Amino acid sequence: MEFELTRQNFPALIVLDEVDSTNDELLRRFGAGGLADFSVVTTMNQTAGHGRLDRGWITPVGKGLATSVFIRFESIVDNSRLRHQVGWVSLLAGFAMVRAINPFLKSVDLRAFLKWPNDVLVDGKKICGVLGRVLDDNSGLIVGAGLNLTSEKSDLPFSTSTSLAQLGVTGNSIELADEVLLRYLLELRDGISRLAGSNSDDVASLKNEIGETCATLGERVRVQNPDGTEDLARAQALDDSGGLVVRLDSGLKSKVISAGDIVHLRYE
Ligand code: BTN
Repeated sequence: MEFELTRQNFPALIVLDEVDSTNDELLRRFGAGGLADFSVVTTMNQTAGHGRLDRGWITPVGKGLATSVFIRFESIVDNSRLRHQVGWVSLLAGFAMVRAINPFLKSVDLRAFLKWPNDVLVDGKKICGVLGRVLDDNSGLIVGAGLNLTSEKSDLPFSTSTSLAQLGVTGNSIELADEVLLRYLLELRDGISRLAGSNSDDVASLKNEIGETCATLGERVRVQNPDGTEDLARAQALDDSGGLVVRLDSGLKSKVISAGDIVHLRYE
C-alpha cells in the first residue's frame, strides 16, 4: 500500500497498514511532540474508528479510506484566523471530499453534495463522514475523514450508506484510494490557505462555494438537539461560524444549530 501519487505531493504522508483510529494516532503523535502543520495519517484498515456524537465508524479492511490531518493554528504560515473558523474548517473538509470524488462520479453521471455539518452524500446516501477535534491546548485541530471506496452492500452499516463501487465507479481499491486522497489533500490545503488568508473576498467566495455544495440548504429537516429533543424545520443558510440557520415549523423563529445532527426529511 504505497500511495505513490499522494506521496509525490505530500512526502511526509504516514501510511499505516492498520491502526485503531487515524484521529487517535495523530493525537498520540501530537502528545509525543513535534507534529508539523498538515501532518497526514492514512490507512485502509482502521479497526476502531470514531464517528460523530460518540458513534463508531467502520472501515472494512482494504475497502475504505481513513485519513486524518493535523492543522496547526500557528505555524510558518499564519493560520491563526482559523481558530475562529473551526466550524468552517470542518465544513471545508466535507467540501474538499466532495470535490475529490466528483471526478470519479462523473463517469456514472452522479454528483456528491455536502450534508451539514460535514457528511458527504451521493444520491441521498452517505459515502463519507468527517470528525474534527480541536486540541485541548487550542494549538490546532485534527480533522479525520472516512470514505467508503469499494465496500459491498453487506459491508455498509445502514441502508442509507453507500460507496463509490456501489454507485458504479469501477477501479482497484488501492488506486482509487491514492487518487482520491491526493485530490482531497490538495483541495483541503487550498481551502485552508483561503480560509486563513487575509483576503476577505476570497474567504467570502470560498464560503459561498461551500454553501452552494451544501444540499441541506432549502431542505426540510429534523433537528436532533444535543439534549435529545427534536425540531422540525426548514434549513435556510450557513451563519458566520458555519452553523446552520433553520426556520422552526413551530413558529416563525429562526434558530442556529451548531451542535447535534439533522436528518433530511425527503430521504426518510
Ligand atoms: C461520522 O460521520 O460520524 C464521522 C466519521 C469520521 C470517521 C473518520 S475515519 C478517519 C478518522 N478517524 C476516526 O477515528 N474517525 C475519523
